[in-house]
Amino acid sequence: MADRPGPVLVTGANSGFGLASVLRFAGRGWDTWGTVRSKAKAKVLTDAAKAAGVGDRVHAVVLDVSDHDAVVAAWPKMPPFYGVVNNAGYSALGAVEEVSAAEAKRNLDVNLVAPAVVSSCALPAMRERGSGRIVMVSSIAGLAAVLPLNAWYHASKFGLEALSDVLRMEVAQFGVKVSVIEPGFFKTEIETKAKADAQEREAVDDSPYRKAYHRMQVTAGAVAAVAPPPGLVARTIVSAVESSRPLKRYLVGADALALAATNPLLPRAITDPLLRRLANLG
Ligand SMILES: NC(=O)c1ccc[n+]([C@@H]2O[C@H](COP(=O)([O-])OP(=O)(O)OC[C@H]3O[C@@H](n4cnc5c(N)ncnc54)[C@H](OP(=O)(O)O)[C@@H]3O)[C@@H](O)[C@H]2O)c1
Repeated sequence: MADRPGPVLVTGANSGFGLASVLRFAGRGWDTWGTVRSKAKAKVLTDAAKAAGVGDRVHAVVLDVSDHDAVVAAWPKMPPFYGVVNNAGYSALGAVEEVSAAEAKRNLDVNLVAPAVVSSCALPAMRERGSGRIVMVSSIAGLAAVLPLNAWYHASKFGLEALSDVLRMEVAQFGVKVSVIEPGFFKTEIETKAKADAQEREAVDDSPYRKAYHRMQVTAGAVAAVAPPPGLVARTIVSAVESSRPLKRYLVGADALALAATNPLLPRAITDPLLRRLANLG
């Protein structure tokens, strides 16, 4: 295995894309650090690393990246990362009318502000080294607003796309490259959480969106049944860090490729009624 230029960090490392990426990085010889939100989740990560035979190269850090002051306070104890993967994320599921301002801000704090804060903390060491990689895990949902009841998720990922384009231009002079990963649907805990959130919102008797919340649960279940495992996304993330000339954007998955190709061509006059019907919105 080639010598690695420095350690890497993955946020949201206890499940889904984050866990798969940590195991792949470590398996390829990287000293790999992963943030998790509790000691129990740290154990999930370290147990998985031991089971994969890479326990000595994986370090779990209990840190909620949406607590931005805590990230800044924790940074002096971190090593000088060569690569940072901003992966932690979720969807504050609900109709715009029914998601509170606090819920919306929390979603933006995790999906949009945290990647900026983590990147800001990591950049001084990258500038000093004269090289580095920042990988943003966005989504096809950052290119096409097609999922009713996921407005804040879309808003956060559209924002992350813009933030990444600007950051890429700002840090290129220091030898730091920024890549955005845009997966379609893959089987992770995000679907389980979406289903549970939709169930909770459907249980509110007077919600005018109950039918759509019910449909959302059925759809999330159907998607989870056919969605591929996260391995391909993890391979893409690792290759964005390892490549000497990483791409600005990586679409991952057949659905993401198809949607990215068709979305700019299809007028909203056609797609809106179709998507409303699929979502059971009147
Ligand atoms: N799966 C897909 O189909 C898909 C498609 C496109 C993009 N993505 C993106 O991929 C990334 C990883 O998601 P995943 O699919 O792997 O889902 P996942 O299995 O649910 O993993 C999400 C990770 O983010 C962390 N996280 C979630 N909410 C958080 C919060 N409020 N504060 C701090 N950390 C939080 C989770 O920690 P906890 O376990 O503590 O909650 C977990 O470690 C996300 O940015 C997501 O938007 C996923």
